[in-house]
Amino acid sequence: MKEVKLTWLGHSCFEILYEKKVIIDPFITDNPAATVAALDLEPDIIAVTHGHRDHLGDTVDIALRTGCRVVCIHELSQYLKSKGVLTEGMNIGGTIDIGGFSITMTDARHSSSIDESGHAFDGGKAAGFVVRAGNVSIYHAGDTGLFRDMELIGELYHPDVAIVPIGGRYTMDARDAAHAVGMLRPKTAIPMHYNTYKKIEQDPHIFASCVKTASNADVRVMDVNESIIFQT
Ligand code: NI
Ligand code: MN
Repeated sequence: MKEVKLTWLGHSCFEILYEKKVIIDPFITDNPAATVAALDLEPDIIAVTHGHRDHLGDTVDIALRTGCRVVCIHELSQYLKSKGVLTEGMNIGGTIDIGGFSITMTDARHSSSIDESGHAFDGGKAAGFVVRAGNVSIYHAGDTGLFRDMELIGELYHPDVAIVPIGGRYTMDARDAAHAVGMLRPKTAIPMHYNTYKKIEQDPHIFASCVKTASNADVRVMDVNESIIFQT
């Protein structure tokens, strides 16, 4: 029996280890919630939901050091290519099979830009991902407001795990995120994108109690660097 290991590195950064390792949104340096060092990360694949600094994070440095491939939306892939990064550009609704994972890019209700030395580069659209490893399906919503088509994501991809932002202000808050879980109908729901900064302070236990009324998903409020193992 094989297992899938999901680890939270803080904010929206998650590592998924199966045969190979995917890191989603590697924002480590300058991330007040992260305790690992970007230099210690050895992913085979990076998946980036959108261009904002708290998601794109250390992508360029890690990709140039390790030679890993970066899965992201077309516009962001053009920017990363200009930095010498190996990219796998895609777009919303598409799926890529890479390193034993199947990664589908989903919609997200959010903006995207890449801010660098006074210039804002076009980040394309913000997205989320469904990552399948063996028969385990993990939905990482990225940064998003609540949208009705999450129901469709639930119907099409049957996520075992839904990782949703709960911090409010830039994304859904705890109550909206619980509503999202109701539409996605995962077995396990995990909150992210909260308490990293004062502006996104949120009590994850409010999320947990709201989920109870919206779904029978098991809420796992993770500690940074904590892992959950799924059997596949
Ligand atoms: Ni954002
Ligand atoms: Mn964000």
